[in-house]
Amino acid sequence: MADELRPVTTHTFLKMKEKAERIVMLTCYDALFARLLDASGVDALLVGDSVNQVLAGAETTLSATLEQMIYHTKIVRRGAQRAMVVCDMPYLTYQVTPAEAIRNCGRVLAETGCHAVKVEGGAPIAPTVRALVDVGIPVMGHIGLTPQSVHALGGYRVQGRDDATALRLKNDAQALEDAGAFAIVLELVPAPRASEITKSLTIPTIGIGAGPACDGQVLVLHDMLGLNERFSAKFVKKYASLADDVREAVSLYAAEVREGRYPGPEHSFGK
Ligand code: KIV
Repeated sequence: MADELRPVTTHTFLKMKEKAERIVMLTCYDALFARLLDASGVDALLVGDSVNQVLAGAETTLSATLEQMIYHTKIVRRGAQRAMVVCDMPYLTYQVTPAEAIRNCGRVLAETGCHAVKVEGGAPIAPTVRALVDVGIPVMGHIGLTPQSVHALGGYRVQGRDDATALRLKNDAQALEDAGAFAIVLELVPAPRASEITKSLTIPTIGIGAGPACDGQVLVLHDMLGLNERFSAKFVKKYASLADDVREAVSLYAAEVREGRYPGPEHSFGK
């Protein structure tokens, strides 16, 4: 595990890859969970644009806005002491021109206090990644299934199954490393392909549905806690069933209120 006291930085990520220490990342959207995850030793908190689906109930990430991401990243940053906080840049805030990307990513860094941004895409986005890194903005890449391109990709499906697309993914990863990205998320990539990419890079890969050989793993917090019943997938391991716990607790509360059993004397003030 990375040093338990020192804040996690981009350098920590590189050192962890060198020492073959696995990086633990989870999505996080608020200060309360940020405090819990930070205290549990999670290395990086990704304020994913998945917040638009998980908390805001949208069908895709495409309608997430810059204001929304700034709000959630700010409150996550309040709860994080050691963990690196990474803000997912929403659709169309970095793809149009490198200058616009610098303005929007710079605004996120300055206004939220986060440590890095994440952008989706491979070789075509590499010049923008270079422009961001050149002005001092740490960038995490994201290739494979890139949810902001869900319609172009024909759905949420595994990427890089055949040799041609696998080679393109490998070249994309190299282009991001060459452009100065400090880590790359690999989403929904066959395990042997993700392993090959991971071995070919000096920067760490963080897998989600990309097998065990990646340098780290990320999951959507509400999926792994069993809170988000609208989503299930082969790669998600449920470490808890919190939706069941919530239903049980709320039903008990409702029954006790209806039957006059809550509040009891111990919850009431005499004077
Ligand atoms: O938005 C998100 O939660 C993500 C992860 C799935 C990597 O990008």
